[in-house]
Amino acid sequence: TKHLLGIKDLNRDDIALILSTAKQFKEVLQRPVKKVPSLRDVTIVNLFYENSTRTRMSFELAEKRLSADTLNFTASSSSAAKGETLLDTVNNILSMKVDMVVMRHSASGAPHFLAKHIPAAIVNAGDGINEHPTQALLDAFSMQERTGRLEGLKVAIIGDIMHSRVALSNMYLLQKMGAEVMVAGPPTLIPKYIQEAMGVRVEYDVKKALQWCDVANVLRIQLERQNQPLFSSLREYNLAYGIKRSLLDSLGKEIVIMHPGPINRGVELDSDVADGPHSIVLNQVENGVAVRMAVLYLLANRENQQ
Ligand code: CP
Repeated sequence: TKHLLGIKDLNRDDIALILSTAKQFKEVLQRPVKKVPSLRDVTIVNLFYENSTRTRMSFELAEKRLSADTLNFTASSSSAAKGETLLDTVNNILSMKVDMVVMRHSASGAPHFLAKHIPAAIVNAGDGINEHPTQALLDAFSMQERTGRLEGLKVAIIGDIMHSRVALSNMYLLQKMGAEVMVAGPPTLIPKYIQEAMGVRVEYDVKKALQWCDVANVLRIQLERQNQPLFSSLREYNLAYGIKRSLLDSLGKEIVIMHPGPINRGVELDSDVADGPHSIVLNQVENGVAVRMAVLYLLANRENQQ
């Protein structure tokens, strides 16, 4: 495929190639001159219909490190706010000779729809509650970097599974790479259809999940996607499911704590965990640039070969 719409569409070799290419780009990013000429004839638009800090900055930086020309589109300050459709917006941008589209949208399937109607390559930067493939790739890269493996690694994905595209992309990727996956959190946030479709372990007791895992990927409670509260209060969520330093200290073993960001401090992660020695959250963000360079580089090269 010429797009990256989801991890669902990738096989083990595709994922391994992206991760090994990202490793090479991470080495480039340690040099005094971090820029390479690989995409100097490529123009990329970052099309963001939903808020972002990390993903948007990370894609823009990855594009600049690859010497691509970049355009940034924010829906709220664009003519989308006057009612212009997604397709009209993208066709207008593409008429300015843009080659690739990086896209975030609140509607699940928006990039898949676009892929059927436009000639440019599309990279999904998060679509609703469906997938966030580059997040799962940078998560896997970071897990492999810290623990040395993905095969046989025990990963617990903890929290708001129901609304999380990060959870779904992680489940697809980790299972394809031979990791063991558990989802944990309140039953109201772990729908049966996800358990059944993905064949993952389920645990409602967070302490037991932490005792089982090597790595805990802790997710943000996505209040903006919840029409009805799914637990009584954020304080009670923190008491029952929040990751606390005392809980980690009681395990009698070391585990790695991850979070895609943004963190609700004092809700799903206490600050002394987010900023403590178990946490690799800023390594994840650092690795995101190398992983996105790899994705853009591989897709652009595929385009050139056709
Ligand atoms: N992890 C992540 O997608 O963060 P942003 O929403 O800030 O891009």
